[in-house]
Amino acid sequence: MSREHWERESSNWAVWARRPDFDAYWTYSQAFFELLPSPGRRTLEVGCGEGRVSRDLVKRGHRVTGVDVSQTLIRLAKDADEQSSYIRADAAALPLASESFDLVVFYNSLMDIDDMELSVHEAARVLRHGGAMCACVTHPIADAGRYESEDSDARFIIEGTYLGERRWFASNIERDGTRMNFAGWAYPLEGYFGTLERAGFVIQAVREPSSGEAGDDKRWSRIPLFLMWRAVKP
Ligand SMILES: C[S@@+](CC[C@H](N)C(=O)[O-])C[C@H]1O[C@@H](n2cnc3c(N)ncnc32)[C@H](O)[C@@H]1O
Repeated sequence: MSREHWERESSNWAVWARRPDFDAYWTYSQAFFELLPSPGRRTLEVGCGEGRVSRDLVKRGHRVTGVDVSQTLIRLAKDADEQSSYIRADAAALPLASESFDLVVFYNSLMDIDDMELSVHEAARVLRHGGAMCACVTHPIADAGRYESEDSDARFIIEGTYLGERRWFASNIERDGTRMNFAGWAYPLEGYFGTLERAGFVIQAVREPSSGEAGDDKRWSRIPLFLMWRAVKP
């Protein structure tokens, strides 16, 4: 269950998420922020973790509410940002009024949430008509395979299946003495876009940013590591 997993990993994630040399956030987040509409009255971040995305939204003029399933991460987010509101809740059952947000953001959280379908429907419920849902997820192609080696021209191999919903685990990733265990769900493109369609969203923009010159790992300039979109509730 994602709730137990993220609570267990919360202190590791808090270190990981705040280190530009550990996490790809600093390579890719600019492409994501360029996808967002201008700040409206209220912005919700679902799966906010220790709050780095919410804090960056505040810097860009958003009035933010952050929601996360981990008690520890919500406390850390609160400690680092007194002006926003942080609530412990499950994405699939938001304790928030219908049609009360202009923008809902999922940054690398949709694939970690156990009930993606219900969570996207909840995002649609709390959005006002004309509001946007913007997300970044691990790209379905990146989830489907692996590089043969760390060389920049390494072959990318899909051995198993691309279609269908699969559980994945990346255990004991170690950097500078910090260990992180990731766990989530892998979906094909239709897994995400079919869910958005059923929740009544219309896709307005899709991005597959390259790691480009900014990224240390040049392999991800050939195959996208992340998929981002802006969808609108008509
Ligand atoms: C990879 S972290 C991303 C955190 C943040 N968006 C960021 O980029 O720094 C995924 C987050 O999703 C949260 N999460 C997982 N399942 C959830 C659920 N069912 N409801 C709300 N949050 C959830 C985890 O606790 C974790 O903080």
